[in-house]
Amino acid sequence: MHELKIENIHVAYGKKAVLRGISLTVKKGEIVALIGPNGAGKSTLLKVIAGFLKPSHGQVWLDSNDLTPLATHERVGQGIAYFMQGGKVFHNLTVAENLEMGSATLSALERENGITAVLEFFTNLKNLLDRRAGLLSGGERQVLALAMVLIRRPQVLLADEPSVGLSPKLVHQLLEKIHELNRTWGTTILLVEQNIREALNIVHRAIALINGTAIAEIDEAARWLQGNALEKLFFGRIEHD
Ligand SMILES: Nc1ncnc2c1ncn2[C@@H]1O[C@H](COP(=O)(O)OP(=O)(O)OP(=O)(O)O)[C@@H](O)[C@H]1O
Ligand SMILES: [Mg+2]
Repeated sequence: MHELKIENIHVAYGKKAVLRGISLTVKKGEIVALIGPNGAGKSTLLKVIAGFLKPSHGQVWLDSNDLTPLATHERVGQGIAYFMQGGKVFHNLTVAENLEMGSATLSALERENGITAVLEFFTNLKNLLDRRAGLLSGGERQVLALAMVLIRRPQVLLADEPSVGLSPKLVHQLLEKIHELNRTWGTTILLVEQNIREALNIVHRAIALINGTAIAEIDEAARWLQGNALEKLFFGRIEHD
């Protein structure tokens, strides 16, 4: 288990400043939700942490290691896993082949152990090993994409909307699985999630990112789940459960 810390991150696309001095910490073993309206900069922040985007200012730390100068694959080596928005699987390959691809740079033994571990965790995938990923249901495909980034048993999981496009029941099941991952594997998780009420049920804390500038910490999930405090925060965005 590791602590993830980001300090004073600034990102601009051209002249448009998206993140203006964002700092946050995800403590060892915590699940923290990063919430905020569309375009707030949530995916941008995850890309910075994963190393796909270089900030103009600021640092990313894993415990006392400064990850800021490291390339994406070096961060993977340090235990950071990144579930990209939309998930990423190879549609023409089978589930088994996708799992192999997700662990291509591991030794044969590490790969076998990793794949065994994710199949024990996502038991439904065991019955789908020979199916082409393009033929999976949306929910099965999201689970496969998640399994692929977990083969290395990462210390930290950055998950960008893993439940997007799923029915309410499948959203609930997937988030429960992420909760279980945190409890049983001890994975430290930063979760971007649009299903805020579902997310608040499984996280220790939530951080709201509004227009890439303000951050409000929400640590009393129960209070936020009552009344319309959340809707107010999101400028009138209403969720129907
Ligand atoms: N490569 C890019 N070039 C220019 N602008 C970009 C680029 N990527 C993102 N943006 C802009 O930066 C802002 C933040 O985008 P980002 O994807 O981080 O938002 P988000 O909070 O993840 O939104 P969503 O909830 O819709 O996924 C948006 O206004 C977006 O249009
Ligand atoms: Mg996004």
